Amino acid sequence: MRTLRMLAAACAVSALTLTSAMSQTTAPAAGAAAGEYKPNSGQPGKDVVWVPTPQALVDRMLDMAKVTKDDTLIDLGSGDGRTVITAAKRGVRSHGIEYNPDLVTLSQRAAQAEGVAELATFERADIFQSDFSRASVITLFLLPNLNVRLRPTLLEMKPGTRVVSNSFDMGDWEPDDRIDAGGDCTSYCRAMKWVVPARAAGAWKFGEGQLQLTQTYQKLEGTLTQGGKATPISAAKMDGTGIAFTAGGESYTGQVTDKTMTVRTGGGATITATKAD
Ligand SMILES: C[S@@+](CC[C@H](N)C(=O)[O-])C[C@H]1O[C@@H](n2cnc3c(N)ncnc32)[C@H](O)[C@@H]1O
Repeated sequence: MRTLRMLAAACAVSALTLTSAMSQTTAPAAGAAAGEYKPNSGQPGKDVVWVPTPQALVDRMLDMAKVTKDDTLIDLGSGDGRTVITAAKRGVRSHGIEYNPDLVTLSQRAAQAEGVAELATFERADIFQSDFSRASVITLFLLPNLNVRLRPTLLEMKPGTRVVSNSFDMGDWEPDDRIDAGGDCTSYCRAMKWVVPARAAGAWKFGEGQLQLTQTYQKLEGTLTQGGKATPISAAKMDGTGIAFTAGGESYTGQVTDKTMTVRTGGGATITATKAD
């Protein structure tokens, strides 16, 4: 299957060389009047071409992110605004950052026509020069290398922030979830989700014992020492601020907030831990 990477290379190539599916004019966003700017799927963009996410996948991506009215969604490279507008129709404050000014104007008109201009806003900017740290949900449909370039910034976002990408991964940061648009979607029909993990690595004073954790993205390894006996932990992972692990046949689940961890054991005991380093 052709990838957006190939399409990015097509920036320097005639649109005629793109697949027929990618070179067809896409239906204008809702609300676009006759004679208005009509983008072409596969047209060049600053760092990646414009190809719209199929609407069925937009819907599934928002389901996957479990967006609520308490969220702020930002679409990085928002194209014709469909993800932002669809989220706004669900009552979610949403914002698109898009480099192409014509696509920004098209999106703003579509939001107006759909009656969600209050909730769906757009700006013409470079995503690599923008501050999107206020978002609790990030959506993107870029390229693997662009995702990896954004990864350090995404990992600095508030723990629990959901990142949902159409088709492309985040390098060695493995996704927490994957979905397929299903139905009659024919290309770019899969999405992945990551939840920005809280930082749990380090030494914790864990009740009367000690918990030593190393962390790679959401994955944890380490040792729980209790009564002088060190036990390796297993099934250990972060889910935003949530933490879960097993040690010595006991399961522990709870929350991590900066220097404090509170977990409950499978047996019902509560243990509070504090960062020792
Ligand atoms: C593959 S399209 C995805 C559009 C939309 N997010 C969607 O899913 O339908 C990528 C978009 O990113 C925009 N883009 C490329 N580089 C950008 C940059 N550095 N800053 C902002 N937008 C960019 C392109 O113009 C294009 O609209």
